[in-house]
Amino acid sequence: MHVKPFLRLYSGRHRAHARAFLDRSVGRELARPAMAAVPEVALRHGAGRPMPAVGVGTADSAATSPETKRGAALAALEVGFRHFDTAALYGTEAPLGEAIAEATRRGLVASREEVFVTTKLWCTQCHPGLVLPSLRESLRNLQMEYVDLYLVHWPISVRPGPPMLPVKREDAVPFDFEGVWRAMEECHRLGLAKAIGVSNFTTKHLDKLLAVATIPPAVNQVEMNPVWQQRTLREYCAAKGIRVAAYSPLGGQNWIGEGNDVMESPVLADIARARGKSIAQVSLRWIHEQGVTPIPKSYNKERLKQNLEIFDWELTKEDRLKISQIPQKKIVTAARMFSPDGEFASVDLSDMEIVEE
Ligand code: A2P
Repeated sequence: MHVKPFLRLYSGRHRAHARAFLDRSVGRELARPAMAAVPEVALRHGAGRPMPAVGVGTADSAATSPETKRGAALAALEVGFRHFDTAALYGTEAPLGEAIAEATRRGLVASREEVFVTTKLWCTQCHPGLVLPSLRESLRNLQMEYVDLYLVHWPISVRPGPPMLPVKREDAVPFDFEGVWRAMEECHRLGLAKAIGVSNFTTKHLDKLLAVATIPPAVNQVEMNPVWQQRTLREYCAAKGIRVAAYSPLGGQNWIGEGNDVMESPVLADIARARGKSIAQVSLRWIHEQGVTPIPKSYNKERLKQNLEIFDWELTKEDRLKISQIPQKKIVTAARMFSPDGEFASVDLSDMEIVEE
């Protein structure tokens, strides 16, 4: 079969499907590995590629080299991930963009359109006039014309400056929900963000946003796993048509050095043993069964592969009941984003830090 002329008949997503058809038809001719089928979810704006039901996180608390970050993203593409999550803050936009460009050159992916890419606006740029320039800078880092999803990283605004963590308490300023969201909507209208959404928003923040939004957020990405189940927020988002995505789906990277309540959960360990799966897979499968998109991070190819293998088996009703009874504990707090010294000059921390179980 003449592969290239055949593929030229298709563009974008259709091209990816055509290539998948060719893979099945011509076997190893394209030298692409067999991959697990990953379900996809259409987001409310409908302009872009649907979001694969699991993604790869790229937040990194360690000082990992760009080369390691690029290699991990490439490994994730090799095992079959087509959904990546980055942010202006993380320093992973450039290595991720390079990995996707290289995967395209190598024919591992048909084109950039085959990959769903999310990036985020940092708190220092949460000002109406800085949103579009910040997205343009992220796009330059990613070497891309558009992102599939652009998120407001936190409902927190601090004085303009380079993206950094922690931020100074005295630099916090009231969050301009209407002004920032108008600018996000403009990013969408310009086609630079196929979908727009938020991250770390509670129901109270979403209430404020929805009151002013012309284009409602498609996604709210929050900390979620069996140890922080976010029932209130999930019910709210389901009612409003907002897809929830889960960061720290495996309990996070030991952010506060207190062990990992997900990976060390005896309840999850029992279920994992009974199902012949790993604890990580049980956690990811449970999140998927709640209608949420998990975004696990891993630099290890075997674990990356494992994190994709969650779609051809199910938890039982008893498993779900046991998981629903796990004591709840939130790890990531807004307060941790600020340096410990200094005062909140013009905003109330309780506005940022609403804990909803
Ligand atoms: P590694 O990068 O060495 O694989 P989260 O996604 O909740 O932030 O958790 C990320 C942490 O979980 C990373 O430290 C990652 O380590 C580890 N991890 C990712 N996938 C797995 C897995 N399948 N089994 C065990 N640990 C995992």
